[in-house]
Amino acid sequence: MPRRIHHLPDGLIDQIAAGEVVEGPASVVKELVENSLDAAARHVEIAIRNGGKTEIRVADDGWGMGPEDALAALDRHATSKIREPKDLLAIRTLGFRGEALPAIASVSRLVLETAERDGQGTRMVVVGGRVQAVEGCARQRGTTVTVRTLFFNVPARAKFLRSAAAETRAVVEVVAALALGFPHVGFRLESNHAPLVEAPPAADTRSRIAALWGEELARELVPVAHRVGRWALSGWVQRPAAASAGRRRGHLFVGGRAVIDRSLLRAATRAYETTIPPGARPWMFLFLDLPPEDVDVNVHPTKAQVRFRDPAAVERLVYEGVRQALASLHSAAPLGEAVAPSPPLPPPPPTPARRTSTVRSSQTSLFVPTPATPEAASAVAAPARAQPSWDGARPHLWQVHATYIFVETHQGLLIVDQHSAHERVLYEDFLRAFEREPLAAQRLLLPLTLHLTPEEVRTAEACAGLFARLGYELEVFGPRTVLVRAVPCPHPYFDAERALRESLAELTYGSPLVDPARTQHQRVALSLACKAAIKAGQRLTTEEMHELFDRLFATELPYHDIHGRPTIVQLPLAELHHRFGRSG
Ligand SMILES: Nc1ncnc2c1ncn2[C@@H]1O[C@H](COP(=O)(O)OP(=O)(O)OP(=O)(O)O)[C@@H](O)[C@H]1O
Ligand SMILES: [Mg+2]
Repeated sequence: MPRRIHHLPDGLIDQIAAGEVVEGPASVVKELVENSLDAAARHVEIAIRNGGKTEIRVADDGWGMGPEDALAALDRHATSKIREPKDLLAIRTLGFRGEALPAIASVSRLVLETAERDGQGTRMVVVGGRVQAVEGCARQRGTTVTVRTLFFNVPARAKFLRSAAAETRAVVEVVAALALGFPHVGFRLESNHAPLVEAPPAADTRSRIAALWGEELARELVPVAHRVGRWALSGWVQRPAAASAGRRRGHLFVGGRAVIDRSLLRAATRAYETTIPPGARPWMFLFLDLPPEDVDVNVHPTKAQVRFRDPAAVERLVYEGVRQALASLHSAAPLGEAVAPSPPLPPPPPTPARRTSTVRSSQTSLFVPTPATPEAASAVAAPARAQPSWDGARPHLWQVHATYIFVETHQGLLIVDQHSAHERVLYEDFLRAFEREPLAAQRLLLPLTLHLTPEEVRTAEACAGLFARLGYELEVFGPRTVLVRAVPCPHPYFDAERALRESLAELTYGSPLVDPARTQHQRVALSLACKAAIKAGQRLTTEEMHELFDRLFATELPYHDIHGRPTIVQLPLAELHHRFGRSG
C-alpha cells in the first residue's frame, strides 16, 4: 500500500502557522510593535499604505539585532524571550513563541533593517519566506521592518482582506491599545503619509488617553486603584453621568497586554448598575497586575485572550475596584477644569476596611431609620475612599431654591440635588428591605381605594409581594380596583397614594428607569424610589438637610442617582480661586 501520510514542506508549514498569527494588516502591526516594545523602544513609528495591504512599516529605537540574531529571528521557534519550559510560567514579554516574524515573512515581501549601535546595521530581504539578500547598511540603533504586499503568495487569504478603510480602522485600534499599555513610549501612526495617531511619550495613562481621545474624555475619568493581596487593579473609568450609548468602550490590560475578556468587562459594567441608564456604555481603561503564576498568556494564537487561575476572584476584584472608584468623591462631577488626581495603589497586603456608617438614629427623623444592621453594612466591602471633609462634627449646610443643598467642605463646595440624593437613599433602603427586614408600614384605619386600569391592577397583583416589603399592603378588589391597607412613611412630606399610583403606572406602561433589562426587584425599587423621594421645591429644615446628607453618605454610591445623573456637583476651591484670579 502506498503511504498516505507525508511531511509537509517547510514553506507550507510556515504558511499554515501564518494563518493563525497573521489575520491581516492589524495583526502584522500588532506583532511588529510588540517586538519593538519587547526591545525596549522609546519611540515607535508605524506607517501604512492602503490599509496596510500595500505596505506596513514599523520603525523603532530599541536595542536592535546583530547580523546572526537578525538571521535567526526569521527562523521558526527562534526567540530571545524564553529558554526552558519553566519560563512559560513567568512570561514578562509580549512575545515568547518565536513565530511572528517567520510567519509574517512567509506571506509577504519583508525587509528587516536592524542595528545594535548607531552606524553599521544589517539589511535582509525575504520574499515569501525565502531570504533573498543579507547585506550591511547604515542605520541608527533600532529596527525597521517593512512588510509589502501581504498575502501576495496566498491569494485565498488576500481575497479576505477588507477595504482599506476597514483595515485602517483595525490598525488604529491595535495601535491605540498598544499605546495605552505603554504610555511612556512615543507612538506615531501615519496612513498614506497622513498622520493618524500622534502620542508623544506620556507621564501616565491619563495623559495618554488625552492624547488619543482628547482632553475632554480625560476630564470625565475617575481613577481606579484597588488591591487585594498581590493582585492590583488600576486605571480610569468614565463618570457615570458622562457615559453615553454606543459601542463598547472597555479596554482591559493584563500585565500591559491588551486582552479581550467579556466576563471581566461585564463585571466592570455591573459595577455601574443603577448609576447609568441601560444601554449606556462608559469608557473604561483597566489594568490588571497579577503575579505571572496566576495568569496563562499562552492560550490564544494572537494572545488576545488570557486564562486566569481563578477567574471568579479576578471578576470580583474588577467589580469591587470599579465600584469603589464610583463611590469616591472623584466621581462627582466638578465645575470647571479640575482633574481627578491619580491615587497611588494601596500597598499590599490589603486591609479590607470596614464601612463606617455615618447614619445617626434620630427620633425626630425626617427619614425612617435604615434597617441596616452593622453586619449588613459591612457585608458590602467599601474600603477607604476619597470623601469630602469639613471642620467640626458637621458641615455647614444651606438650602437654595428649595431644591439644592450647599455644603461647605475643606475642598470647596458640594451642591447636592435633594431629590436625586433622596432617590439614591431610598433605592438602597428598598433593596435592603427586599433582602432583609421589610420597611415599617402604617396601617390605615380605612383602606384607600384606588381605581386603576386593568393592566395596572395586574401589575399591582404581580408586584404585591415586593410592595409589601416596602410597606404597601395591597389587595386586588376587582378588575379595576385595588385596596391599600397599609402604607410606608419614608418622610413627612410623603404622599403615599400618589407615589403608588405613579409607580404602578410606570411599572405597567414603562419608562427608561424600569427598562425590561432590569430585574423585577430593581424595577419596583427604582420606580418607587423615584416617586417617593422628596421633591424639588420642598423646603427642608437644617435638621432634615443633615439627615439627608448623612443618609446619602451612608449609601454605597452617594454621588450618583438612579437615572444616570449626578446627585452631587463639586465646586473645588481651586476653581473659585482661579475664577477670581487668585493664585491659590
Ligand atoms: N524590533 C525588534 N528589535 C529587536 N529584536 C527583535 C525585534 N523584532 C524581533 N526581534 C527579535 O527576533 C526574535 C523573533 O521575533 P518574533 O516576533 O518572531 O518572536 P518573539 O517575539 O520571540 O515571539 P512571538 O512569536 O510570540 O512574537 C525576538 O525574540 C527578538 O529577539
Ligand atoms: Mg514577537
